[in-house]
Amino acid sequence: PIATVYQAEDCTIAQGVVEANHAGYTGAGFVNYDNATGSYVECSVSVASAGTYTLTFRASNGTTAGRPLSVAVNGSTVNGSLAFASTTNWDTWADVPQTVTLTAGANVVRATATTANGGPNLDKITV
Ligand code: GCU
Ligand code: CA
Ligand code: CA
Repeated sequence: PIATVYQAEDCTIAQGVVEANHAGYTGAGFVNYDNATGSYVECSVSVASAGTYTLTFRASNGTTAGRPLSVAVNGSTVNGSLAFASTTNWDTWADVPQTVTLTAGANVVRATATTANGGPNLDKITV
């Protein structure tokens, strides 16, 4: 199937801002998570059929420390610490996959920072 793109900047953002001051993003920009535990991006992800899917998070981490995100689908945590390793600088982006189970129709995907450093800069989620 053809991939569906969910731009992070179009999703619901809690404790974060949309920015476009680092190169290489797609769409209108990216979400800069506040550097705080609990900051999150929540996207409504729709699929036609229930099943197993790969969510691909495209993100940048210009620091040397990891910026893990807890990934939840429809309120249930599927990975409490999805790793976002350093991409060396904020202009370099990496794809990080996460396997999830989705129901037919809309699903609430939330990616929450688990450390005081906040999340990586998040460009988009592709399904
Ligand atoms: C810098 C960078 C931001 C990033 C932030 C961080 O300020 O410009 O895009 O989000 O570092 O450490 O999270
Ligand atoms: Ca940040
Ligand atoms: Ca984007």
